[in-house]
Amino acid sequence: MTATFSSLLPMTFIGGGNMAQALISGWLKQGISASQIHVVEPAAATREHLSQHLGVTCHEQATSALNASGMVVWAIKPQVFKQVALSLNGMFPQAMHVSVAAGVRSDSIGRWLDTPSVVRAMPNTPALVGLGQTGLYAGPAVNASQREQVQALMQAVGQSIWVEREELLDAVTALSGSGPAYVFYFIEAMTKAGVSMGLTPEQAQQLAVGTFTGAAELARSSSESPEVLRERVTSKGGTTYAAITSMQEHQIERLIAQAMEAARQRSIEMGHLFDQT
Ligand SMILES: NC(=O)c1ccc[n+]([C@@H]2O[C@H](COP(=O)([O-])OP(=O)(O)OC[C@H]3O[C@@H](n4cnc5c(N)ncnc54)[C@H](OP(=O)(O)O)[C@@H]3O)[C@@H](O)[C@H]2O)c1
Repeated sequence: MTATFSSLLPMTFIGGGNMAQALISGWLKQGISASQIHVVEPAAATREHLSQHLGVTCHEQATSALNASGMVVWAIKPQVFKQVALSLNGMFPQAMHVSVAAGVRSDSIGRWLDTPSVVRAMPNTPALVGLGQTGLYAGPAVNASQREQVQALMQAVGQSIWVEREELLDAVTALSGSGPAYVFYFIEAMTKAGVSMGLTPEQAQQLAVGTFTGAAELARSSSESPEVLRERVTSKGGTTYAAITSMQEHQIERLIAQAMEAARQRSIEMGHLFDQT
């Protein structure tokens, strides 16, 4: 499959933290050679972890050895993006730049790096196990073949969608980017409740995690909507009915929408905050 995106190789990651590791692990599993992946990462312990566990080449700082990179993946925190990008302006003359940073807009990135070749990607951490969900946005300067290559890379770690307007990435961030944490929170809450009902922590966690996995797979593979699947297991007067009625009385749906809106607003704010030049 590397032929599909051979012009993006070798690739350089700026930042080797959680998201970089999730993407690198997925790409290695899909057959990209570790020798084609470089990571610029200031933390010595992280560099050691990356070299030992993933076999990629790590650098404390970007050097001219990386000039020929076909793709640069920006996997640093939004707060440091501008300063790091300005310091590396002109370093990667042929590269397509792919940013996974939440909130940082493509026109800011293009301005800091002096290039229109910018794709924004909003992946999530299940990319680590090949089940990531990624929202992608590219400006008009990115051509169809470049889009296809970036999409092929992202599909190696899960599924992806393109959004037509960049602001929709704020919605993607609120839904799938931050979404794994919502699911973990739900699993934690269900596990704690199960323990308070007398199950052991191990039993409760197994049942909670397995229920999410099973229900998500059912929702994915079924031709029915999640609403129909829910109604089917909610017979009036039964146990599930009692639980769902309690959730509805406490307006859980509204609370979830409010929480996602808070995430979306934070993504918008970060875009404004980190856009200033
Ligand atoms: N984690 C997620 O679920 C997720 C989902 C979607 C998008 N993202 C985005 O992915 C980006 C990275 O997030 P993360 O969770 O991977 O963060 P992270 O684990 O903190 O990784 C960022 C890494 O970049 C390093 N770094 C700092 N300054 C650098 C520099 N000048 N040059 C090169 N590397 C530098 C950091 O080193 P130090 O620790 O020494 O500072 C750290 O190892 C963020 O912008 C985030 O918005 C994350």
